[in-house]
Amino acid sequence: MSRRYLVTSALPYSNGRLHVGHIAGAYLPADTYVRYLRARGHEVRYICGSDDNGVAIEIAALRQKRLPQDISRYFHHRQKADFAGLGIEFDVYGGTHQPGYQAMHERFSQEFFRRIHDQGYFRKLRTKQLYDPTAERFLPDRYVRGKCHHCGAGGATGDHCDACGQLIDPLLLIDPVSEISGAKPVVRETTHWHLSLQKFERPLQEWLESKRGQWRPNVLNFALGQIRQGLPERSMTRDIQWGIPVPLDDPEARGKVLFVWFDAPIGYISFTAQLCQDSEGDWQAYRRWWCEPDTDIVHFIGEDNTVFHALIWPAMLMADGRHQLPAAVVANNFVNIRSGTGDQKVSKSQTSEDSPVWIEEYLKRGLDPDALRYYLTATAPETARTTFDPREFVQRSNGEL
Ligand code: 2FM
Ligand code: ZN
Repeated sequence: MSRRYLVTSALPYSNGRLHVGHIAGAYLPADTYVRYLRARGHEVRYICGSDDNGVAIEIAALRQKRLPQDISRYFHHRQKADFAGLGIEFDVYGGTHQPGYQAMHERFSQEFFRRIHDQGYFRKLRTKQLYDPTAERFLPDRYVRGKCHHCGAGGATGDHCDACGQLIDPLLLIDPVSEISGAKPVVRETTHWHLSLQKFERPLQEWLESKRGQWRPNVLNFALGQIRQGLPERSMTRDIQWGIPVPLDDPEARGKVLFVWFDAPIGYISFTAQLCQDSEGDWQAYRRWWCEPDTDIVHFIGEDNTVFHALIWPAMLMADGRHQLPAAVVANNFVNIRSGTGDQKVSKSQTSEDSPVWIEEYLKRGLDPDALRYYLTATAPETARTTFDPREFVQRSNGEL
């Protein structure tokens, strides 16, 4: 029997180039799944686009002495070309701050925020935040760097430690330094709107338990484990300039924007609405995909996005109350790169600029997209991290493909 499926891949930040790890985690498996569903005669929409708002883009702009809109425009187009070069075929590739998508996205995001606010699921709190006295700015998320207060590793940012994968409390960071000026931050008070996640612990738990045997255990175990520990309130607003204005008639909301992780998943909906507008002249047709239970919504993500897609986004959907919850959240692990010095994460600082693990470089050399698709599928990081080994890639390509 034919069904409808709405498949999404995590929206990449438009602040850098894509590499094989991105592709193996959230894009290639989704594209393959979409091809499979279409071959089975199902009706499918495959949605993606760039994640253009928030601190990650603002910092990239600051470092490159350019405007955030220029950075996000530039990388949006480069990433879009990479996906096309690898044969990853979205029905729409939007962008949370791209022309043609921004207005719809802002409208949906502000409406979500207002509805959640009006239903009493936000708590306005005065909180302590790190502040850069030299730049005279608050330092949310990646604006501050220091040693992890869980594992002691260096290079943790104000929101996340890559070494141990845990969330960071910026006030507990060891030896914090401002990314803007290098100054030692001070603590100042500011007001933010916090999503009362604890109110959703029971419904989230029941919903997740109902997925046992259907979803991958990595997602379920992680999400249920977090609920067991208790879900903390999380701030959904930020003191930065680049983003969607907080849509409240409250003097304390002035100059603040929505947390990028609040508006990003709403991009899945707003891009669907824009697709419906552009292809059928009726944006409201998005409801067929998002509100009617004969559609299954499936999110493909990388492992670091699990908390947002399996807990916070579903809690937002429950609080808003108009849309379906995802039928599945499929998380894949990271891919490391094998080099002379061992296995490493792909990164701007450690991976040479012309390495073909960057998709742009791979395609520029005229290498076959299908060879990469084959290798990344054969070594897919479905239950654990895997390693992209250039020598093995050549051997398997020649020997198997
Ligand atoms: O981790 C990331 O790259 C985020 N930009 C993913 C966002 S996914 C979704 F919520 F939009
Ligand atoms: Zn750590």
